[in-house]
Amino acid sequence: MDKLLIEGGVPLMGEIAISGAKNAALPILCAALLSAEPLHITNLPRLNDVRTMLRLLGQMGVKIVDEGRDAVTLDASGLDNPVAPYELVRTMRASVLVLGPLVARCGEARVSLPGGCAIGARPVDQHIKGLEAMGAEISVEQGYVHARAARLRGARLFTDMVTVTGTENLMMAAVLAAGDTVIENAAREPEVVDLANCLVAMGAQISGAGSDVIRIRGVDRLYGATHRVMPDRIETGTYLCAAAATGGSVRLTGTSTSYLDAVVDKLMDTGCDIVPERDAIRLKAPPKLTAVSIRTAPYPAFPTDMQAQFMAINAVADGTAVIRETIFENRYMHAVELARLGAEIRIDGNTAVVKGVPRLNGATVMATDLRASASLVVAGLVAQGTTLVDRIYHLDRGYEQLDRKLAALGARVRRTK
Ligand code: EPU
Repeated sequence: MDKLLIEGGVPLMGEIAISGAKNAALPILCAALLSAEPLHITNLPRLNDVRTMLRLLGQMGVKIVDEGRDAVTLDASGLDNPVAPYELVRTMRASVLVLGPLVARCGEARVSLPGGCAIGARPVDQHIKGLEAMGAEISVEQGYVHARAARLRGARLFTDMVTVTGTENLMMAAVLAAGDTVIENAAREPEVVDLANCLVAMGAQISGAGSDVIRIRGVDRLYGATHRVMPDRIETGTYLCAAAATGGSVRLTGTSTSYLDAVVDKLMDTGCDIVPERDAIRLKAPPKLTAVSIRTAPYPAFPTDMQAQFMAINAVADGTAVIRETIFENRYMHAVELARLGAEIRIDGNTAVVKGVPRLNGATVMATDLRASASLVVAGLVAQGTTLVDRIYHLDRGYEQLDRKLAALGARVRRTK
């Protein structure tokens, strides 16, 4: 299993390009299922989760043409096997995003129920409730959700909590339904808006994406289109944190602060100087960071996907920070690993209290999920001595060429077996 070896203590300096957003790319790949004409996608990040999604779509009968670099064309005219098997769903929960488009286009889908995962139970009851309200008949048999509907009907949908992939799944189902659908309590995440933009380019009629009420007028068919995936705001935030923690100065290109207000705000509170440019961000860290408290919540509030990285920077900041995680019930797995590097963290339910220490020391730590791993890398970059981050396949799911990008910023990192 690959590991990342980090010699810490080098301030990150220089410039790197940010990739397309994983969490926008995954639903957008699924949008290809909705049309019999080709969908051309650019700025696609080359990540393990993207490869898994392409495998899943391929075994359903979608023709995939890899255009090299960051582009792919998907042709779902031959879609003939609307099934998402356990083996693939198990490795990537976002596979559930095929459910809505498959029922809408094929009238049927069999999708393995994702189990719990490292960060929480993560049920998909809201996806199912929404599809049922649109007239789908749904049964759960042998661990698979089996959904059927000759044609989905538009409906008024209300989700019990804000759910990102739930909103995306229902929006994709509704674009081909008969009549109008209203999704209330919709997720406002920028990735939802990016998906909506792609669907609109394919001929869907959607308004309100980015607000908590999305209105969709169903159409009979969607067409071919070209779509460029938005920049990855979490990858951006992660490199900003790495630069901040190491006292560095970086410029990130192909990205913007527009979707990162909550994160940028907090980084400025730590003492960082941040300058937004057109399609780029500059950050210069102070000699010593000031601790900042955060509370995760749905967009536009502070993202849960940046919580772990902020725990790492607070571990070496001046003062004490209180972190509240309100989205997932088990998203502090990194805390015990950070403690192995010398961090002082106390966890009580969904609250973590992080008391900054003068220095961290390298150790072997284990990655448990994608963002937890990112926080260990940030901590490893600032720790004195050598940190070995084990199980970095988690990182490869969501950070394109992490080791190369860090090396380009001067970090001493190396992949080992
Ligand atoms: N929830 C339910 N029932 C549902 C759906 C959600 O109880 O039917 C709960 C979840 O268990 C959770 C909360 O609602 O407690 C919010 O979950 P949400 O559905 O919004 O999460 P998700 O759509 O499964 C996406 C991202 C995650 C990100 C969350 C929150 C993708 C592919 N994944 O997950 O990204 O943390 O939204 O912003 O978009 C990551 O990239 O590392 C990652 C985990």
